[in-house]
This record gives sequence, structure tokens and C-alpha cells, in this order.
Amino acid sequence: MILSVKNLKKTFKDGDKVLEVLKGVSFNLNKGDILTIKGPSGSGKSTLLSLLGTLDQPDSGEVIIDNNNLKDIKDYDLIRNTHIGFIFQFHNLISELNVVENVTIPTLIAGKKIDEAYVNELFDYFDLSNRKKSFPLDLSGGEKQRISVMRAIINKPSIVIADEPTGNLDEHNAIKMIDLFQKLNHDFNLTFVIATHDKKVFNIGDKKMNLYDGILL
Ligand SMILES: Nc1ncnc2c1ncn2[C@@H]1O[C@H](COP(=O)(O)OP(=O)(O)OP(=O)(O)O)[C@@H](O)[C@H]1O
Ligand SMILES: [Mg+2]
Repeated sequence: MILSVKNLKKTFKDGDKVLEVLKGVSFNLNKGDILTIKGPSGSGKSTLLSLLGTLDQPDSGEVIIDNNNLKDIKDYDLIRNTHIGFIFQFHNLISELNVVENVTIPTLIAGKKIDEAYVNELFDYFDLSNRKKSFPLDLSGGEKQRISVMRAIINKPSIVIADEPTGNLDEHNAIKMIDLFQKLNHDFNLTFVIATHDKKVFNIGDKKMNLYDGILL
């Protein structure tokens, strides 16, 4: 099992009111699974993903990623950097850095040496070898998003977490992104957790779940 989530609960305070966003979410994923999650706006999809990605902490419950119980982790930055890849609706590339610099940031943060051969292979795989020295401003939306996927997987994470990864793409680029996820899943047995409003993205899940009223079914 690569990801185990047990009875996760999360509330937010909104003035005097307590907002119960997650009321006990549990699921398990095996390596190579694609989990897609849908649910109304405000149902807590991004909240759930931020707990899986150690960007926020639950009130109670457990998240175990690749045998690491997040409860026992002292260094969240380290586990995030080495075990988790993030893809967001907005690519969040750094405009002052060129493409290859953007992609290899997670490797540098991990304090590892950049494996040039591996990086070159990855650029070939993504069909972006001719854009290495370009800057984000000079790229199309689809290219930027594909580069953010590269950045997410450069450190060979245990899971890739994607929050509305096609939310900012046109239909054509959304389909390319879906194909890319399926190819990465097939070629590298990568595990994905994807929150989406897009039916086509939702349909690529081996496991498809719906978050509603704080419960994931
Ligand atoms: N840091 C926070 N403080 C207070 N309330 C929050 C916080 N983060 C999220 N919420 C609330 O928690 C609920 C769930 O938000 P969340 O962003 O997880 O929903 P979502 O399912 O991702 O929605 P969308 O589909 O629009 O992206 C919302 O009511 C939101 O206002
Ligand atoms: Mg959201």
C-alpha cells in the first residue's frame, strides 16, 4: 500500500461557527492507482489534498505515505520534497528562472546532485527538449502546465497530488494533460490523487470517489 488514510477529520473556525469540512475520510491506494475525487465547490477537496500533502494538519486521523506515518514526521519539508509531487490549477513556475531551472528546483532543494542524463531523458519524454532554455513567459499555457508536471515528478515521488490540474486549460490542452497522466501512470507506475470538476479527468480514475458533506464515498 502506498497511501493509507484513516478517519481524517478537519474543521475550520469561521467567526463563532465551526465548519466541519472533513468528517472522517478513509481510503487506501496501491502503487500505480489513480484516485479521482469530485465534489461540489467548497466540499473540501483542496483541504483533503493539502492534508495528504502535509501543507496542513488534520484535527485527527492518520495519513501514511509509503510507510511514513505523517504523525511521526518531524521534517515535513523533507517528506514533501522526496515523496510528494504537486500539480496545481496554476502552474506556479518562477518567471525569473528558465524551464530547466524550474524543473530541477525540487532536486536542488533536496540537496541532491542534478542527474543531467535523467533530466535530458525527462525532457525528451515530455517532448520539451527544445524549450529547456525558454522562460515561462514565452511558453503556452499547455507547455507551462506540462513543465509543472515535470517539476512534480522530478524527484520520483511516491504520490502525485493534483488539484484541478486542467482547471486553467482549454479543451485541447486538457486532453493532452489527461493523456500525459495516463502515460506517466502506465510507464512509471506513478500513483495519482486528482481532485477535479472535469468529467474527462474524473473518468481516468481506477478509483473514483465523491466528496460530499464531509464524507468520501
Ligand atoms: N484556511 C481556511 N480557513 C477557513 N476556512 C477554510 C480554509 N480553507 C478552506 N476553508 C473552507 O473549507 C471549505 C472547503 O474548502 P475547499 O477549498 O477544500 O473546497 P473545494 O472542494 O476544494 O472547492 P473547489 O471545488 O471550489 O476548489 C470551504 O467552505 C472553505 O471556505
Ligand atoms: Mg479546491
